[in-house]
Amino acid sequence: MGHIDFDPSNFEGREGYFLLTSLVVPRPIAWVSTVSPDGARNLAPHSYFNAISSNPLVIHFTSTGEKDTLRNVKATGEFVVNIVSAPLAEVMNLTAANFPAEEDEFAWANLEDAPSKTIVPPRVARAAAAFECTVNRIVSIGSGNMVFGNVTHLVVDEAVMRDGRVAPDLLDAVGRLGGSWYTRAATDLFKMKRPTYDDVKTKSGERAG
Ligand SMILES: Cc1cc2nc3c(=O)[nH]c(=O)nc-3n(C[C@H](O)[C@H](O)[C@H](O)COP(=O)(O)O)c2cc1C
Repeated sequence: MGHIDFDPSNFEGREGYFLLTSLVVPRPIAWVSTVSPDGARNLAPHSYFNAISSNPLVIHFTSTGEKDTLRNVKATGEFVVNIVSAPLAEVMNLTAANFPAEEDEFAWANLEDAPSKTIVPPRVARAAAAFECTVNRIVSIGSGNMVFGNVTHLVVDEAVMRDGRVAPDLLDAVGRLGGSWYTRAATDLFKMKRPTYDDVKTKSGERAG
């Protein structure tokens, strides 16, 4: 058994997508709420999602191609990223169906919204945390349209806090893997303290000795 070589320039169909999304795992899920210019609510998950800057707070999600979320973000410059905890996984998945633009995923998913403090799109009331964002910039690379958002406000449910920090077991966030696979971030937790260079030198000295 050895390693198999892949040349991305020879990928056919969705082969590259399947490899990428099975290997870049687990991916956090940005459950993005937006409104259209005429006020229609929209909600859709995006697992091409990550933190970009912690000072100031900037996050990003990527729309593969042009979807309702991206169209609303381009038109209004605002979006909310809701965090998906395990009890919301199924309803999050429902909102990924290819609803027509005028359909309201909040209503289809029977989800209550809650008003945002700094922007027009509402958040998912039951989500444990939500980032209110204004568009910093949109960068298109290949099939990906990367939306960078300045975080203008952040809410966290106190029920997921312990000792002033977000507790991973209480947050119980869901991660996306390849295909239809998901994982719960809190079911197999372990801790590691990051060593200093001195710690590592001392340890390797001990081993050599
Ligand atoms: C867990 C999950 C993650 C997803 N991640 C992305 C993503 O990162 N980018 C994307 O364009 N679509 C992603 N999708 C698909 C969109 O959610 C789907 O195309 C949706 O219908 C888009 O809705 P909209 O047209 O209202 O924006 C994902 C779907 C699921 C279930």
